Amino acid sequence: MAENKKLSMEKIVNLCKSRGFVYPGSEIYGGFANTWDFGPVGVELKNNVKRSWWKRFVQESPSTYGVDAAILMNPRVWEASGHVQSFGDPKMDCKNCKQRFRADTLIEAHSKGSVAAEAMTDAEMENYIAEHDVKCPHCGVRNWTPIRKFNPMFITSRGTLEEGSDKVYLRPETCQGEYVNFLNVQRTARAKVPFAIAQVGKSFRNEITPGNFLFRTVEFEQMELQMFCKESEAMQIYADYKAKAQKYVEDLGLKAENLRFHDHDKLAHYAKAACDIQYNFPMGWQELNGIHHRGTWDLSRHQEFSGKSMLYVDPFTNEKFIPNVIEYSIGADRLTLALLCAAYEEQALEGGDVRTVMHFHPAIAPYKVAILPLQKNLGEKAKEVYAKLSKKFMCDYDETGSIGKRYRRQDEIGTPFCVTVDFDTLEDGAVTVRDRDSMQQIRLKIDEVIPYVEKFLEFN
Ligand code: GAP
Repeated sequence: MAENKKLSMEKIVNLCKSRGFVYPGSEIYGGFANTWDFGPVGVELKNNVKRSWWKRFVQESPSTYGVDAAILMNPRVWEASGHVQSFGDPKMDCKNCKQRFRADTLIEAHSKGSVAAEAMTDAEMENYIAEHDVKCPHCGVRNWTPIRKFNPMFITSRGTLEEGSDKVYLRPETCQGEYVNFLNVQRTARAKVPFAIAQVGKSFRNEITPGNFLFRTVEFEQMELQMFCKESEAMQIYADYKAKAQKYVEDLGLKAENLRFHDHDKLAHYAKAACDIQYNFPMGWQELNGIHHRGTWDLSRHQEFSGKSMLYVDPFTNEKFIPNVIEYSIGADRLTLALLCAAYEEQALEGGDVRTVMHFHPAIAPYKVAILPLQKNLGEKAKEVYAKLSKKFMCDYDETGSIGKRYRRQDEIGTPFCVTVDFDTLEDGAVTVRDRDSMQQIRLKIDEVIPYVEKFLEFN
């Protein structure tokens, strides 16, 4: 797979808009800052990413159980999780242009990722910003307010009358839906530790400094998994998930040299270990996912706030304990962005021509096959082929423009195979299959196309 050293985010955004991956949210109303709508090609890509995660971490993991919990949860959940009382991003306002930023993000951007601001206290961050003359990225002036904490949860209300109704929060992370179902899943699945609960779904954060396209948005999807285990096995499981998380993103197409682990220096008081995998995005090294050893904090807090015992009884030893938790969490949109960056190549061709090609792994490519009649009057036969192949795969059909232009369009959306129906097809029932990456063409009988393409869709 190709990865371009000088790839700019602008190129990715432009391709996404022009080819139907991602559009600005509510565009006809002038947009709505940091919201994005996935178009016909993008929705396929992101769905395939989510499917690949579910396949790897739920389907192929016998001790992992999926849930799909409600987004709106009892507000006590967010008291137990600590979000209501203490969660807060360190925000600073520019007194000159009134824009709001996160102090840690400003430092990380200024130091090009070489300073781990998350390990700093508020005072240390303020000192760093003063000493290094960190200016407002918007207006270029240094005139900051002191750091203030900001709760990133979106608040809504329940009931038909807003007045007097209860506050309800849009969940800022999906994992709480896993903790609150610990007892349900353990009982109904007759699960024995170590076992995990996984969930994929939307989260919402009123981020102070969203931006960089899909990287940090106010509404996004998370793919999260909590592994419940004995304390004695937790460190090994933590190490296993670091390796599994790395292998997963490499298998999807992110190159090892663009990935690195970042172990956290400063841990939450309950945490035993924590790290991110960072990816070398066009704007620099940034967090792609997190892996955390959270001890017994989460289940203990839910026990305290709900009054329900979270004790697990070991069926072999009768020992009773609150399980430790290893959490693995990755954003579906952020991973999709990394995969878009990794797949992008502008390839120089003989004769001075340049083609843009997205080298997606076929398992996540939006369309697996495009069916292209060489001429419009071959449309009937081509539609027959489309009807056959689309029962098996997501296919595109295109009969407009020269065959060369149609190949280029499919390269730009990363379709691994183009199937061309020509006049010989009517005689011999064979089609030309063109490979996106090598541009090599082979001739196959129509019935051979499905098994041929299927071989490339394996994702191990
Ligand atoms: N339950 C733990 C948790 O939510 P996190 O580090 O805040 O941890 C986990 O988020 C992952 O979710 C991140 O590594 C990132 O991939 C994704 N993520 C977090 N905030 C995001 C945002 N505002 N926009 C897009 N993705 C986000």
